[in-house]
Amino acid sequence: LGQIKLPGDLSGLATYDPGFTNTASCRSSVTYIDGDNGVLEYRGYPIEQLAEQSTFLEVAYLLIHGALPTEAEYKNWEHHITFHTYVHENVKSFMQGFRYDAHPMGMLMASVGALSTFYPESVNIHDADNRNIQIIRMIAKMPTLGAWAFRHAQGKPYVYPDNNLSYTANFLSMLFKMSETRYHPDERIVRALDTLLILHADHEQNASTNAVRSVGSTQVDPYSAVASGVGALFGPLHGGANEAVLRMLKRIGSVENIPAFIEGVKAGNERLMGFGHRVYKNYDPRAKLIKKACDDVFEVTGVNPLLKIAQELEKIALNDEYFVKRRLYPNVDFYSGLIYEALQFPPEMFTVLFAIGRTPGWLAQWLELTTDKDQKIARPKQIYTGARGQLYVPQSQRW
Ligand code: ACO
Repeated sequence: LGQIKLPGDLSGLATYDPGFTNTASCRSSVTYIDGDNGVLEYRGYPIEQLAEQSTFLEVAYLLIHGALPTEAEYKNWEHHITFHTYVHENVKSFMQGFRYDAHPMGMLMASVGALSTFYPESVNIHDADNRNIQIIRMIAKMPTLGAWAFRHAQGKPYVYPDNNLSYTANFLSMLFKMSETRYHPDERIVRALDTLLILHADHEQNASTNAVRSVGSTQVDPYSAVASGVGALFGPLHGGANEAVLRMLKRIGSVENIPAFIEGVKAGNERLMGFGHRVYKNYDPRAKLIKKACDDVFEVTGVNPLLKIAQELEKIALNDEYFVKRRLYPNVDFYSGLIYEALQFPPEMFTVLFAIGRTPGWLAQWLELTTDKDQKIARPKQIYTGARGQLYVPQSQRW
């Protein structure tokens, strides 16, 4: 924090806060977090209740509309989302143009951005009806784009949505269907994946939501704003962390190697991925719920052998002074990768699943931003550390 007074600077006081660790960029009524006590609420509802009793689509409605739906509202919402799952054939051609080994997050980011060209009216962000239809489209189409990015990497034909299935069962069908007959995923898998989507649905001003808000503050269309959120989520310190956790667990290889690995972390050689959080200085409540989903999934798929290494790592870290002193606990990513791997997803797909879950949160925050009259374009200050008043020497005298 510094007091800076420059000629012509009206504010007089500026904070230097790289990474916004202590700076609020907005007011929001979407999500509440108490990091010290491990509390997470969407619109005031504890995450534990929503994860246990709601569906992802109901949570999406809650985030967007601010209240739980009546039965009629839910049916209407579900109907609209279900019947917007198809994407234009040219989007399909666009996606098919990617390299065979394109990262699915790159494909998702590009194809979400491309949707703005299919719905040019989406620039009318001050029209409530227009906003609503774009929100429905985006929540509906994200699983289609995500599943196609997955099929692309496998060199398999893209599967069209099956609108007789639920949101999450349809997603699984587009991912894994192999024949013309209807795909019927195990209900326990559908429920576990639905729960994971709920747990990822919003997390107040995380890096990707901040990206959506920052880009959205320019009043661009919502597809462009959400594409920037997908880009931010791609990074290994954010959504890419569960992929990094899995790679880390595989590298450790066996329980005997954990102590040496932990020593390396403490020496600063690397981080214990899936541990630590900017906000939670206590157990991430989502990590607790994911542990339960692990049990449900492994009941169907058989236990992932890496689970033992993860459990032992957690036990050792939670009793080690280095982690205790810094208040580093497992975050949402520590166990989610194990589930995704058991469900046959390659690590590159993990962040795509996160993005699909986070979409209602991004949109709820975008909606809030767009309807907040006090919102200004996001334009942080800087502390300039470079040279001043340099005299330009012509190229002829320098070269
Ligand atoms: N392993 C080892 N040490 C760690 C870890 C970790 N995972 N996380 C933080 N630390 C240490 C830092 O080295 C630092 O130690 P020091 O004070 O001795 O220098 C101290 O804890 C504070 O770390 P910061 O980087 O200042 O904490 P910050 O709040 O900026 O970072 C972050 C949070 C990025 C999540 C960090 O904990 C991390 O890199 N974790 C691993 C990656 C991860 O799991 N990301 C997923 C986050 S959740 C999500 O995006 C959904």
